[in-house]
Amino acid sequence: MVSRRLRELEYPIRDIAVIADEVKKQGKNVIHLNIGDPVKYDFKTPAYICNAMARAALDGQNFYVDSLGIPELREEICKYERNKNSIDIATDDILVTSGVTEAIFFSLSALLENRDELLVPGPSYPLYISYSKFFDGVPVEYRLDEENGWEPDIDDLRSKISDKTKAILMGTPNNPTGGLFSNKQVKEIIDLAGEHDLVVISDEIYDQIVFEKQYSCPASYSKDVPIIGMNGFSKAHLATGWRLGYLYYYDPENKIEDLKENIAKMARARLCANSIAQYAAIEALRNPGPHTDEMVVKLRQRRDYSYKRLRQIEGVSVINADGAFYLFPKIDFKEFPKWNNDKEFVVDLLRTTGICTVYGSGFGNYGKDHIRITFLPDLDTLEMVYNEIEEFLK
Ligand SMILES: Cc1ncc(COP(=O)(O)O)c(C=O)c1O
Repeated sequence: MVSRRLRELEYPIRDIAVIADEVKKQGKNVIHLNIGDPVKYDFKTPAYICNAMARAALDGQNFYVDSLGIPELREEICKYERNKNSIDIATDDILVTSGVTEAIFFSLSALLENRDELLVPGPSYPLYISYSKFFDGVPVEYRLDEENGWEPDIDDLRSKISDKTKAILMGTPNNPTGGLFSNKQVKEIIDLAGEHDLVVISDEIYDQIVFEKQYSCPASYSKDVPIIGMNGFSKAHLATGWRLGYLYYYDPENKIEDLKENIAKMARARLCANSIAQYAAIEALRNPGPHTDEMVVKLRQRRDYSYKRLRQIEGVSVINADGAFYLFPKIDFKEFPKWNNDKEFVVDLLRTTGICTVYGSGFGNYGKDHIRITFLPDLDTLEMVYNEIEEFLK
């Protein structure tokens, strides 16, 4: 009855929650460190943004809006991207979506069919893999080098470009590693895409959640290589549940005009993104508050604490995160023969302690032997979590 396409769809970050629910039913308190949702912790959607949303609803902005997004919002996004990232785009290059999730869905729907290949970072955010397969494409992982701060291995990437490759996807700061690609590597990826006539897809959802290093937008390194950039309001503006994001086309030589027109068709076919959230987003962009910077300050302390505790555990190694809110420690299963692999480990940790993390193999082949753990909770919760993990490993 059910299509192969859907039967094979996986999203491990939420699939693990099914076991978490079982554990909860048995009366255990579950601590969710599997989902990157700051609003579930002590980071709250700012009141002035919530008020803008409520005002829009009370003013009657509750109808279907333009499929490409409300014109004022597209203009604000365009101004924001131009100012922040010094990239030459116009309002017409912006498409408002239901989160970056839909932006990924739209782009891959337009690019992939008949086993076309998409180069994705390995380890990789699971949706890149699932949606590639959904559209009958093949996700090909290029290695991120853990020994080198999770930087992309450009030789590996080059060796994996084939006649079937359609695009190179990058996500920096990266989920699950927390690594920020260096400017040199970003430029090399764009140059490679240029040599092979490929589109670059750039997931920029964590661009404002960066600690010591400086983020630069990949499109600012491209002269003529077309880039589909993606960002949204979930993380930086603490509005995960509102489902609002956008994509922009950086395409100075109009190489992907056809792609753009066809993605617009896809947008029309799904009517529009959430209307009142778009009014709130206009407010968020016109009057940026201190919430993002304040979140980054808190997250840095929580990252430092988590990193320190993980490093103290024998048999566990970890690279510190440059951005986002995840650490991706490696577990040496020779030290811990009780578990055969990361999935067994994560399930046992969850059933024994109630701590819910995600198994690294859910992030593709390069994720195996790792777990992804978010450092979003407050320091008291993190202290309790790491005490429990230490005890569990003993
Ligand atoms: C790398 C990455 N891209 C996209 C998303 C989804 O973002 P949105 O809420 O805008 O759909 C996430 C969510 O965790 C993410 O980590």
